[in-house]
Amino acid sequence: MPSVVTVDTNPFEGQKPGTSGLRKKVKVFVQEHYTENFVQSILDANKDSLKGSTLVVGGDGRYLVREVVDKIIKISAANGVGKLLVGQNGILSTPAVSCIIRKYKALGGIVLTASHNPGGIDNDFGIKFNCANGGPAPDATTNQIYALTTAIKQYKIVPDLVCDINKIGVSNYDIDGSKFTVEVIDSVNDYVAYMKEIFDFNKIKALIQGTDKRKPFNVLIDSMNGVTGPYVKRIFLDELGAKEGNVRRIVPLEDFGGAHPDPNLTYAADLVNAVKGGDYDLGAAFDGDGDRNMIIGRDAFFVTPSDSLAVLANNLQHIPYFERTGVRGYARSMPTAAAVDRVAEATGHEMFEVPTGWKYFGNLMDAGRLSLCGEESFGTGSDHVREKDGLWAALAWLSVLAATGLSVEDILKAHWAKFGRNYFTRYDYEECASDPCNEMMQTLEKKITSPGFVGSSHSSGGKTYVVKQADNFSYMDPIDQSVAMKQGLRIIFEDGSRIVLRLSGTGSSGATVRLYIDSYEATNVLGDAQVMLKPLIDVALQVSELAKYTGRDAPTVIT
Ligand code: G6P
Ligand code: ZN
Repeated sequence: MPSVVTVDTNPFEGQKPGTSGLRKKVKVFVQEHYTENFVQSILDANKDSLKGSTLVVGGDGRYLVREVVDKIIKISAANGVGKLLVGQNGILSTPAVSCIIRKYKALGGIVLTASHNPGGIDNDFGIKFNCANGGPAPDATTNQIYALTTAIKQYKIVPDLVCDINKIGVSNYDIDGSKFTVEVIDSVNDYVAYMKEIFDFNKIKALIQGTDKRKPFNVLIDSMNGVTGPYVKRIFLDELGAKEGNVRRIVPLEDFGGAHPDPNLTYAADLVNAVKGGDYDLGAAFDGDGDRNMIIGRDAFFVTPSDSLAVLANNLQHIPYFERTGVRGYARSMPTAAAVDRVAEATGHEMFEVPTGWKYFGNLMDAGRLSLCGEESFGTGSDHVREKDGLWAALAWLSVLAATGLSVEDILKAHWAKFGRNYFTRYDYEECASDPCNEMMQTLEKKITSPGFVGSSHSSGGKTYVVKQADNFSYMDPIDQSVAMKQGLRIIFEDGSRIVLRLSGTGSSGATVRLYIDSYEATNVLGDAQVMLKPLIDVALQVSELAKYTGRDAPTVIT
């Protein structure tokens, strides 16, 4: 009979969860006791509710997921957890974990993913804890987990417990007199059932298959070798009648086939080229763990995530779920362009601006004040779960396309004609040296918060911008009054244009600088974003002295 063993250990430095959990190189996680310490700390942070509780466990299929699922099973068994719901082969997309936690009223879930970061033995791994609402743990919880990691002396484990996660089914164990159950569940069933409640699959199917009056709407759905593969297969091929040629890279691979599974114009260039060169009406890609999405139209017409959010906000009536629940407020993260704000104003809905990170939307959703939200970082979602949801976004777009009969590009053009356009771009400078980047942020913060900066003029390319407000963004959650400080430097100009600069919270080594530019035009809406934003980008580079601090004269990625 398997029994509990207590193992002596010592704290590891740096087990502080970032924007989205603990993310490090695989070689860090495989150090003896490293993963065990962190998992034990997650459980200890929940110790008051742990006895007999149910937890959901799954990940994006990357290298190490299976081994860590096995450790989590053994450590959970030793710590009094009652039951684990584990995705078959350890596979669960991040939105599916959220869905399953909520559906089965679990205490929470442990998600094994480094999201859009590359996978494989030389790349990244991650562990994230989600709470009973299905959403990423709030700062208070992750801080508590971190504090526990700094003091940990022992962890408990049942080393002899054997559990086969390849087969669906229930295994019951007696652990020193306590009952422990592992239920290996189908990775996609619950999620797909939920999508069928949210959307009208018949309408989307008619769009994709075509009718007497309309030719088939030709989609190209790209899972980038990430976790969404089996979900795409079930939804698009089995349910919506798409053909094999409508999907690509749908087998989850431990190293994502060498791809960087981040759906943007750079890392999903494959998809962009395929849509450009082919006869496709819509292309969509998802990241490694299935919460991010990119939407492009015919000829790879790019929909910025900020515009995607605004368009969906203006079209929720085409989605059955919102007919049932009604539409509450909208929200976006601070660096996200403010296009959705205009929809909120026009439709009379509440609008929230939160820090970067999906966890900041959860309280608003739980309080019934938020229906739809999104981030410039290719995240779109609603209160159907508490994670952003890539496939949901693609299905939402297809619902709108089916109902309006318009092309992706025409929907955008009509939207801009009505609301004006927020031109937006983001420059990423990846893997820079950390110290000079921190220094740049400190110097810039000082500069923009010094007397005289508000009111100062900045010119480039024949345009002059006058500063109206400048600060390091902080946010007070309207529901629980918790405060998040230092969430990004922002310079807001008289005409509403914005420059935002922040350091990424999701990298695993060095610093990634993100520069966000957002500029509104009421009537001049059909320009090229890079051309339109050039003057403001130049101002941002001057004011921040970015080239001097990073040593970079060009970004790694432009979106
Ligand atoms: C993850 C989170 C998002 C967040 C993004 C920011 O994807 O789930 O909510 O927007 O990270 O990443 P960054 O690298 O900019 O901190
Ligand atoms: Zn992700």
